Amino acid sequence: MTLGKGIFITFEGIDGAGKTTQILRLSRWLEGQGLHVARTREPGGTAIGDAVRSILLNPAYDDMSPRAEVLLYAASRAQLVDRVIRPALAEGKVVLCDRFVDASIAYQGAGLQLGPELVAQVNAFALDGLRPDITILFDLDWASARDRLVRSRGGGQLDRIEQRDDEFFHRVQSAFREIANRELERVKIVDAAQDPDAIEQEIRDIIWKYIRQS
Ligand code: TMP
Repeated sequence: MTLGKGIFITFEGIDGAGKTTQILRLSRWLEGQGLHVARTREPGGTAIGDAVRSILLNPAYDDMSPRAEVLLYAASRAQLVDRVIRPALAEGKVVLCDRFVDASIAYQGAGLQLGPELVAQVNAFALDGLRPDITILFDLDWASARDRLVRSRGGGQLDRIEQRDDEFFHRVQSAFREIANRELERVKIVDAAQDPDAIEQEIRDIIWKYIRQS
């Protein structure tokens, strides 16, 4: 099945909320329904974006200024929008993107306290008018998310962002919830504490309803 126009779906939430596994499950299910799916992630998703990602997440760069950090995320985003997301949407694909601009509003705007307006302004240039059609927010309290994150690393090192303190992640979490409460039409909150099969079903229902209506 090819859609008349593509659909752009983003997935957000604090680290450790379990997005990545669910995106893979949804992608396989949508393909099983005969849809053409493009799966990507931020930062990254392009060769240039992956190079920027390795700078952003490298714990050695602990001196990165908040403004430089916002711009690097936005640079990776601009490349992804121009080279991957817009072309895929033009082909009528369902684009599943692991994080997008809401992450910058939450992590840099609230977490780093740059403020949501400034981060939105910088990103307006990177987005060039593109907005997600629908966003799934994985909601999980930070204590549980941090436990999952540490377990998933199996004793390995956390990245530069993951190493930030609890206050940072509490600000990020509240910002995501504020975005969801402000944009009820676009952002759907999913309780990420449920078991994975229940989460998968809930996400399928939300997305399928959206696809049928559009
Ligand atoms: P990931 O672990 O989900 O791949 O994301 C990489 C990290 O980058 C994660 O800690 C969230 C963070 N991040 C931001 O701080 N701002 C952004 O705009 C994006 C997309 C991610």
